[in-house]
Amino acid sequence: MFNKLFNNNNGNDDIESQLSKENIPKHIAIIMDGNGRWANKRFLPRIAGHKEGMNTVKKITTSASKLGVEVLTLYAFSTENWKRPDEEVQFLMKLPVDFFETFMPDLMKENVRVHVMGYHDVLPKHTQKVITDAMDKTKNNTGLVLNFALNYGGRAEIVSATQAAMRELLAQELTPDDLTEELIAKHLMTHTFPDPDLLIRTSGEMRVSNFMLWQIAYSEFYFVEKHWPDFSHQDLCEAIATYQNRTRRFGGILK
Ligand code: FPP
Repeated sequence: MFNKLFNNNNGNDDIESQLSKENIPKHIAIIMDGNGRWANKRFLPRIAGHKEGMNTVKKITTSASKLGVEVLTLYAFSTENWKRPDEEVQFLMKLPVDFFETFMPDLMKENVRVHVMGYHDVLPKHTQKVITDAMDKTKNNTGLVLNFALNYGGRAEIVSATQAAMRELLAQELTPDDLTEELIAKHLMTHTFPDPDLLIRTSGEMRVSNFMLWQIAYSEFYFVEKHWPDFSHQDLCEAIATYQNRTRRFGGILK
């Protein structure tokens, strides 16, 4: 049971060459958990874990791009993360500045388009500025979409989307009975992307934590014990290999 729930890199170095290039998940979403525990284990402050986590974001973005993933969504800050100590929140809000300052040349070289979803008007001005600049600079890139979820919450997103859908119905003098799944989906922050095929969570926790609640209805889940700063290209390949061995039925039956 335990081994089925957790999938650990078993030292198979050649896993990338065994992947089917035709069945790479189009959209991978990741709950990057365990930065704090990674730091604690090394007697470092929690922010050191986040800094190392940012380096992993760089590595995994490059890996996903090279593997042909179309969209990589990373849960960087939830609407609940404001409850953390001030110093940690401030550090997390500065990470995008550091990230884009140091990684923009690679993002351009890899043809990556940056997208950031979430409630941005309450973010510090410097954070808002770097994410707007990054989206603007990369807007004509046609490769991987690197989608950060920043001050994002799945329930809040569903409420906002439903409100927008209802406004659209009212403007057309329609009623709540005319509300459809398609209309709600059209107002989600991810409406231009396919739903995630694969949801990965690091660090051993097996929960969804208010992440993309609507969009993960049929995603395959993959949990790995490693903390996010230790997550590697190899681990990503391992997750994709596991995904490729699953049978997706979308509520139907096997023919
Ligand atoms: C969860 O680990 C991690 C976060 C809440 C922050 C994730 C942010 C990054 C990985 C860096 C993002 C980089 C950019 C460019 C935005 P935790 O702190 O909850 O770990 P713990 O559960 O071990 O305490």
